[in-house]
Amino acid sequence: MVFDYIDGAADDEVTLARNVSRFRDIELVWDALVDVDKIDTSTTIMGAASASPFFISPTATSRLFHPRAGELAVARAAHAAGVPYACSTLASTSVEDIATVNPGTKWFQVYVWRNRALVKDMLERAKAAGFGAILLTVDVPVAGNRERDGANDFSIPPKVTWRTATQALAAPGYLWDLVTTPEIRPANFAHIKIDGGLIGFINAQFDQTVTWDDARWMRENWDGKLAIKGIATPADAQRCVAIGADAVWVSNHGGRQLDTAPASIDTLPGIAEAVGGAAEIILDGGVRRGSDIVKALALGANAVALGRSYLYGLAAGGEAGVRRALEIMDSELRRTMALCGRTKLSGLTRDLIFQRTLA
Ligand SMILES: Cc1cc2nc3c(=O)[nH]c(=O)nc-3n(C[C@H](O)[C@H](O)[C@H](O)COP(=O)(O)O)c2cc1C
Repeated sequence: MVFDYIDGAADDEVTLARNVSRFRDIELVWDALVDVDKIDTSTTIMGAASASPFFISPTATSRLFHPRAGELAVARAAHAAGVPYACSTLASTSVEDIATVNPGTKWFQVYVWRNRALVKDMLERAKAAGFGAILLTVDVPVAGNRERDGANDFSIPPKVTWRTATQALAAPGYLWDLVTTPEIRPANFAHIKIDGGLIGFINAQFDQTVTWDDARWMRENWDGKLAIKGIATPADAQRCVAIGADAVWVSNHGGRQLDTAPASIDTLPGIAEAVGGAAEIILDGGVRRGSDIVKALALGANAVALGRSYLYGLAAGGEAGVRRALEIMDSELRRTMALCGRTKLSGLTRDLIFQRTLA
């Protein structure tokens, strides 16, 4: 059930599959006989130095994937790799605790909750804990329909039913960690009484009346960097720029929200053109290989965010698993750049993408 929660997406999972397969459809060409002895992947993302053009995307309740390691392991691994760490609003570890293990670049993902005082309080806490940017997620007006979770009786915190109990007993190491560590809950809201677990909290706090005025309110109440996450059209990208966002984040939530949405990589070129350099562009969705990062940058992204690619590592091996996932991504990126004959990220340009002339 934990694997399905990570691996699954909404409805028929068409968008999830397309996010991945459309990267595969894009063909790369290369410059031959270029000195590629020194590859430089360093960059800045929303003003922060990063060793690579990728970073950790916010994902809810990391302790669910590894009850002992959780967010602290991911935050440590990101710091060790020299890349930004983004914490979900629905994290199972508080921003203050995360800050103790990661003195590097940290960002905080937010939704506009019904209770605006709660949002303001959260922004102040994030700022005090050293989180330098907020990421406003705008593709969750209602929760997506994740059918694998229903089939598994899956909930946060997990409830005991025949299905969940038999699955848990088949994974005794996980079960042991689960029962010998604190209950998994939204740690940033430990001071608030939450009925009905995470879903109850989401249902009570998600404000379905949120509009661009609220995004503007967020901009006015936060003096750090702001990215708007979950943009799929050039028109919305221009709205992000108009309210003063520092980054437009092209994303369909990894296919977990509106199914049959186009693959992120397919919406990127039009959005990059509409933004025209007025804000940075971040892309996520289906990034599984270093070559995917090269393609995203060549088509106009400044950086990519990693979701499932580090979550599989976390679930399989805790902190060591996340470190390994980031190492693999870094080495694949470097190898692809060398094979393409480009040594710097600024050299990852559109001419690397093969334009088919034959059907
Ligand atoms: C298990 C899981 C939980 C997620 N939780 C959040 C979240 O709390 N907030 C958010 O903005 N995005 C969340 N996302 C979306 C990711 O930030 C990201 O957009 C997506 O995973 C990218 O697609 P990829 O996993 O194919 O790389 C979640 C994704 C997954 C897989």
